[in-house]
Amino acid sequence: MRGTPITGHTQVFGLVGHPVRHSFSPAIYNTLFARFEIDAVYLAFDVHPDQADRVSEMIRVMGLVGVNLTVPFKERILDELDGLTAAAREAGAVNVVTQLDGALMGYNTDGEGFVRSLAEEGGPDPGGLHAVILGAGGAARAVASGLLDRGAAAITFLNRTIPRAEKAAAALESSFPSATFDVRPLTSDGFSAVTRDARLVVNCTSGPAADAVAGLDPALLSVDSSWVDINYWMEEPPAKEACLAAGLRFHDGLGMLAHQGALAFELFTGYPVTGSEIRSVLEGAS
Ligand code: ATR
Repeated sequence: MRGTPITGHTQVFGLVGHPVRHSFSPAIYNTLFARFEIDAVYLAFDVHPDQADRVSEMIRVMGLVGVNLTVPFKERILDELDGLTAAAREAGAVNVVTQLDGALMGYNTDGEGFVRSLAEEGGPDPGGLHAVILGAGGAARAVASGLLDRGAAAITFLNRTIPRAEKAAAALESSFPSATFDVRPLTSDGFSAVTRDARLVVNCTSGPAADAVAGLDPALLSVDSSWVDINYWMEEPPAKEACLAAGLRFHDGLGMLAHQGALAFELFTGYPVTGSEIRSVLEGAS
């Protein structure tokens, strides 16, 4: 636990979202602050979605040094920041904001966190890979951007709302012009059209899409394929049993959660931590 007292010099970090009360982030970051003897504190700010337009102002006015953003603010803050990394632009979403001399910088560590966890867990090498991404929101775009950054050759988005997936593909195509993009509906027909070449499926849809995801048949994939469900909080991810029955490798989203958090901690403090250090704090907190 914290060894140094909170004073007027203590730097304030936090999570901004709605809801946030279930979050492990305060436990993770405060444990790491104590471990590195950093005079800082990390709080969870539950901000009503009606106040989205005021989040950047709140960070500036309160002098927060860094925040993690979660639903529903990751996309809505984009235009309010002073700078964005390429990863944040490609994702169309920001999950980390830092403040230095009054300037707010937006980052997205989800894509890099995803590819690091995939490598750590023995998933496929992104180089030349065809990946099928379920969903087309900020998380889906971040995962696609991380894979493309490591040389993925083709991305197929399967999404309920086709124009949203087309927009995601167009945004990524401008950064990765040599990759191939395809957009299809999130249905068994859409899925079966792309299973021959794909070696990785990543479920980036949110909880309510579970029934649609359960309607896809992992047995259509080649047996050397991997399936990742980034919804780390789900006890029974929709395709898990079918993947294991078909002999595919199944990964939950905890590795991505840990690695994106490790990258955020480094942006906040300059201290490098590994995904497994975060994971061990997470296991202690849950
Ligand atoms: P995140 O920021 O986590 O990416 P998001 O932007 O809300 O969250 O994206 C949620 C994804 O889940 C979207 O791809 C969404 O599909 P639409 O673009 O059609 O909205 C998908 N999703 C959510 N609920 C769904 C449902 N009931 N059926 C199918 N897809 C769903």
